[in-house]
Amino acid sequence: MRSAIWIVGDLSTMKHLKTLYDLTDSEIQELLALSIELKGEVRQGRRPQLFHQRMVTLVFEKPSLRTRVSFEAAAAQLGGSSVFLSSADAGLNGRESLQDVARVLSSYSDVIVLRTFSQQLIEDFAEASACPVVNGLSDERHPCQSLSDIMTIREALPDKPAAHVTYIGDGNNVACSLAVLTARLGMPLTVCSPVGYELPSAFVQDLQTRVPGARLTQTSDPREAVKTADVVYTDVWASMGQEQESSQRSDIFRPYQVNAELMRQAPQDCRFLHCLPAHRGEEVTEEVVEGPMSLVFEQAANRLHVARGLLAWLTRQAD
Ligand code: CP
Ligand code: NVA
Repeated sequence: MRSAIWIVGDLSTMKHLKTLYDLTDSEIQELLALSIELKGEVRQGRRPQLFHQRMVTLVFEKPSLRTRVSFEAAAAQLGGSSVFLSSADAGLNGRESLQDVARVLSSYSDVIVLRTFSQQLIEDFAEASACPVVNGLSDERHPCQSLSDIMTIREALPDKPAAHVTYIGDGNNVACSLAVLTARLGMPLTVCSPVGYELPSAFVQDLQTRVPGARLTQTSDPREAVKTADVVYTDVWASMGQEQESSQRSDIFRPYQVNAELMRQAPQDCRFLHCLPAHRGEEVTEEVVEGPMSLVFEQAANRLHVARGLLAWLTRQAD
């Protein structure tokens, strides 16, 4: 399989995906198009071997279902293989320097996916790595998730390239990557958070500098925020690493629960997304996750197609 998108882009430099700023606008479009194309191929029973005899190594400091298994499945489906290591197994607990781990691991691997607390760790690792490094979630970013989110929105709302997304909840890693990607694609985004839990102000300033046309609105009023939404999105109130704040956050975020009553304030054909895992009864109710507006399982399934797109695309220059 060789579609036109394979000849687009600069093939001379190795690409990382530490944040979505690592991709140009046309590379974002290429990746989305390739992921959608590969989904179509697999549905017709074709699994082009675009990662043949290659290996992705995953090094995770935090638990994962979707990110880990989507990359492992993607490698297998594309003709390659995967190795999974906890960060302690990889030696990132002080056994040896991060730079040495990166140099050695990247000499065995074609792509490395990292899930960390610190975004800086991913930046430092990539600096020393001889192969592409993908951010599989840090405290600050979750770029693979956002690519799957946008793919899901494009599939569900093909006539709305500028669909209005309203994110209700913590201004966390998922929200930051969503803000970058929607801004880059010219999509309006409303982020509705309790006071003190908004997107970090340094992040917003940086976004407005890098993407001057960003259509980002912040508010603390959920009923107002969903009024013109094409898509309502939420995530957990306490992310991995914030477990000790769970009960305090529960009280603060309670008015921000996405439930049927809030969804009634949104347009009738509004869709619902959640990156999962979902805590039913907290940030979202069962009736919304399982209701007709929900695309959460299509969204989760698209993680696989984006992982396939990424593995194929990041290693294409070596073909
Ligand atoms: N959405 C997501 O990244 O899920 P995991 O934490 O299970 O990988
Ligand atoms: N914000 C969540 C996303 C999980 C996929 C977390 O970081 O735990």
